[in-house]
Amino acid sequence: ATPTPSTAVPPVPPVPPVPAGPADGPAPAALDNLSTEDRRFPPDPAMIAQANVGSDVYAWASADRPDFWADQARELLTWTRPFTEVLDWSEAPFVRWFADGRLNAAYNAVDRHVEAGHGERVALHFEGEPGDTRTLTYADLQREVSRAANAMASLGVGTGDRVAIYLPMIPEAVITMLACARLGAPHSVVFGGFSAEALHSRIVDAAATLVVTADGGYRKGTPSALKPAVDEALAKGAPSVEHVLVVRRTGQTVDWTPGRDVWWSDVVDAASERHTPVDVDAEHPLFILYTSGTTGRPKGILHTTGGYLTQAAFTHRAVFDLKPETDVYWCTADIGWITGHTYVVYGPLINGATQVIYEGTPDTPHRGRWWEIVQKYGVSILYTAPTAIRTCMKWGDDIPASFDLSSLRVLGSVGEPINPEAWMWYRRTIGGDRAPIVDTWWQTETGAIMISPLPGVTSTKPGSAQVPLPGIAADVVDDEAKSVPDGAGGYLVVREPWPAMLRGIWGDRERYKDTYWSRFPGLYFAGDGAKKDADGDIWLLGRVDDVMNVSGHRLSTTEIESALVSHPSVAEAAVVGASDDMTGQAVVAFVILRAEAAALDRPAEEVQEELRRHVAVAIGPIAKPRQVLVVPELPKTRSGKIMRRLLRDVAEHRTVGDATTLADSSVMDLIAAGLSAPP
Ligand code: WT7
Repeated sequence: ATPTPSTAVPPVPPVPPVPAGPADGPAPAALDNLSTEDRRFPPDPAMIAQANVGSDVYAWASADRPDFWADQARELLTWTRPFTEVLDWSEAPFVRWFADGRLNAAYNAVDRHVEAGHGERVALHFEGEPGDTRTLTYADLQREVSRAANAMASLGVGTGDRVAIYLPMIPEAVITMLACARLGAPHSVVFGGFSAEALHSRIVDAAATLVVTADGGYRKGTPSALKPAVDEALAKGAPSVEHVLVVRRTGQTVDWTPGRDVWWSDVVDAASERHTPVDVDAEHPLFILYTSGTTGRPKGILHTTGGYLTQAAFTHRAVFDLKPETDVYWCTADIGWITGHTYVVYGPLINGATQVIYEGTPDTPHRGRWWEIVQKYGVSILYTAPTAIRTCMKWGDDIPASFDLSSLRVLGSVGEPINPEAWMWYRRTIGGDRAPIVDTWWQTETGAIMISPLPGVTSTKPGSAQVPLPGIAADVVDDEAKSVPDGAGGYLVVREPWPAMLRGIWGDRERYKDTYWSRFPGLYFAGDGAKKDADGDIWLLGRVDDVMNVSGHRLSTTEIESALVSHPSVAEAAVVGASDDMTGQAVVAFVILRAEAAALDRPAEEVQEELRRHVAVAIGPIAKPRQVLVVPELPKTRSGKIMRRLLRDVAEHRTVGDATTLADSSVMDLIAAGLSAPP
């Protein structure tokens, strides 16, 4: 889910529509294809022997989930006042965890590691896109975060005030988030790729008093300005904002509003490096993060402190098998997304990890940049997204092959279903057929990982997130909210509250209930289709609005994309369900050919027919695309999600809708120009 620019006057959000699936019928035949995936990769004995979490944890956790999480909360966090209450679900779906406990997030992420004698351990290896680097130890981080907290306090930020953060992936982004946490001032990070309008609506919705930004950041080899978007956003009217704190990163000239704008170097560098973290209640808001809903108006997802940090720390330690003394961890996500919050800032730092952060794009100045970074820092745990994996796959095996990737021992994937071909490529080409892959399912709303294999426990299956984590009661249900049997498909739900779950939508209690808790009363509805295979393992099938119904058969876009990408000529594929008079919906596929295949310059009809046949063979004639359109690019949001809505417009010969959230707005023109008249 990706935030979209919102309007100033919010409409009343309707309950998101859920397409009716075949009621209580047998598993749709098309879904069976995924269970023909019979490759299994058991953990190797060395991994099992040293894993942080063993198979016994599942039984322990399911015996008493709240008790399990309470143990994790005591074990993994330092509390200034220990909690005695664990779970309060009396006002469901509003939840409270560890409510009478008190703690500070930044103290847990930074200070206590210094106090424990790990001040000289590297917290951040920063790699700027132009090649500049900075290393911050935990002791450095403590000084920087304290300075920033003092400076922000001097600019009037107090406990409970909201701070908007609009920064590139530079150390100041992490420092600012932690400085907010130190003050008990909830942050609202807005991805640096968002427009002034999107930034404006988020600043106004949260009534932020401070905006922290930079002159710009480096992207694709050039300085890319940020400050002008802040100026433009504030010019639209944002009366809550008192100051704009500006980091100098690129040296670009900036417009300046005296009295309002303040240079980071003037106030932060001059501030005292001592600051006492503010104790807050476990349920004190830690941050708001906006994400899009079905209505187009972004939702401010609210996360609080104690429960969120507990699950962030536990999952980061268990899923990535983190060994803080020896691992070098790298999550490629930007802090503008939930992945950056939980698995760049809070999870790793709470656990005392050493990590890499990288400012730029994977192909600057060359397509081996990521692998060069892995080699340079000896990265041992890599966490990235399928879209990035497929892009690297498209660029060719020779690129990663020319770097030493032998330090990698755990590979993670997140954000969308990973098709088995990309999974296998990731495993072989990046992981040397050695490192386990953890395909992690979760959402902005869940706050932390919910479904994932565990590296020393699970025999992995290419393309499946497989098992709910210990302490997580995820299930797949049918239209009547009944748990489906193994082998059947339905909707992904969560049956019991979990510590990192959203506490609501900022400023809108009802929308929270309507969006997540009304489709299946008493169950959290994630919006994803899913299926259990014969072993009971969970396969994510994409958002329910991406599940097609063709002649009464349910087909997964993911599954057909997977089939297409398994063809040697195909680099990437996106499938949409286009309305069709005969069959209800019809499958339309958009594909990017691999360079080698494109170079052959075969007639388009021949390639298209071959790919249609390929899908028919892989899944069944019912899944055969009505059309296969070869395109030069796919429309993606800045977080890398394919905007199927736009492709659906093309497939249904409509005027293409709002494309403002595309990373590259010219993509739709490219696609239109490349397509011949519709058949
Ligand atoms: C949606 C949540 C969680 C951080 C990044 C995205 C999809 C996420 C997986 C996965 C299949 C996945 C779901 C989910 N998704 N991870 N491993 N397998 N689908 O966060 O923007 O809140 O999006 O991303 O559809 O609902 P988000």
